[in-house]
Amino acid sequence: MHLQNLSVALSLLFAMSTTTTFSQTPEPIYEESLVPAYTLPDPLIFADGTPVKSPADWTKRRTELLQLFETHVYGKTPVGKPEGMHVESRKKVTGFLEGKATMEEIRIHFSPGQEGPFLDLLVIKPAEIPEGGVPTFLALNFGGNQSIHPSPEISITGSWMRESKEDLEDGLVADNRATEKSRGSRVSRWPVEKIIASGCALATFYYGDIDPDFDDGFENGIHTLFGKPGEGQWGSIGAWAWGASRAMDYLATDPAIDQKRVALFGHSRLGKTALWGGAQDERFSLVISNNSGCGGAALSKRCFGERVGRINRSFPHWFSDSFTQYNENEAALPVDQHQLIALIAPRMVYVASAEEDRWADPKGEFLGAKLAEPVYELLGQTGLGAKEKPPLNTPVGTTVRYHVRTGIHDVTDFDWEQYIKAIKSL
Ligand code: GCU
Repeated sequence: MHLQNLSVALSLLFAMSTTTTFSQTPEPIYEESLVPAYTLPDPLIFADGTPVKSPADWTKRRTELLQLFETHVYGKTPVGKPEGMHVESRKKVTGFLEGKATMEEIRIHFSPGQEGPFLDLLVIKPAEIPEGGVPTFLALNFGGNQSIHPSPEISITGSWMRESKEDLEDGLVADNRATEKSRGSRVSRWPVEKIIASGCALATFYYGDIDPDFDDGFENGIHTLFGKPGEGQWGSIGAWAWGASRAMDYLATDPAIDQKRVALFGHSRLGKTALWGGAQDERFSLVISNNSGCGGAALSKRCFGERVGRINRSFPHWFSDSFTQYNENEAALPVDQHQLIALIAPRMVYVASAEEDRWADPKGEFLGAKLAEPVYELLGQTGLGAKEKPPLNTPVGTTVRYHVRTGIHDVTDFDWEQYIKAIKSL
């Protein structure tokens, strides 16, 4: 080919390859009749075809499945605490919430000294702690600890923050930092008084402390310590989940926390994080996925709403690079999300959907929970007790729980009322 033609051809090819990234993303499916036929991998069959027949077999299968999720979806997470990790108590307020609670701010440093990456954990506990401690929600938040409650006692996060159009307009964020105005900006999602009145504690941290949520090539947050993830290593979801385990390391040292009743909670991308974190870390006795959708509780192979290709293109930093092999190719995935939920067995799991949150595929989320049941049953637990997705606002299940409530993608008081019942039933 003539050199000039070659360069024209090459630039055309380049233009195509950059535009195809988005043109390859098909229109989302929102009709049940358009969901393709799919076959799901069985959590109770080993990769070599051998059936899982006993709890002892399941222990081996569990290890195999964890590895499959690492390899194909979330990437591999470094194990355990980094050397030099230590805790600094920065503030303690008794008489919080008009005397009903105490509040503490704990900085978990991930390296020796004060200069390295850290996570700021806000812990709010009932004033009266019974023998054995209180059930505790460990929850990741989107807006910084100060966003969950208007109290001026809570420190404003100094970590990098996304600038959504609404948050900029509302003055909640400026120059990628939270503002004074952001205090209490997310109260509708955090019924702190209700949680405390129920006799539970709430521990929460800002997910951006661990890894700022943008595709920056893993240059900041915890990556300054572990380095840029190599081939097959964790993406941001893996890093956020790791952060939850480090917060749990701290909670495990607090006698006011009932160690048998710690729930890991997350909404949306943080619901995906809660499931992956809870699958790996067995210290969480309850895992709560609120509207987690694609890469969370929803079955990928249904291809309903948000799909693998779309999520990988919109958020290239969330998953392992190997997950992109399944863009527009979910049928080839060797795992699906019901198996992720099964990894939480025999511990309690709560999957919640919202009727109008079709992007997250409420039916796919229900099926994710439902199809984990055989593993729960093998381990002597009861499942959902429902064959079909239940009517709106009608929670079902015991060890595996589910509801779909009216309304949009959000966290509401109704959701929290169910989570409080669930943790108190442990
Ligand atoms: C986007 C994304 C979802 C995610 C959600 C969120 O909508 O596509 O996968 O759950 O953001 O975290 O808010």
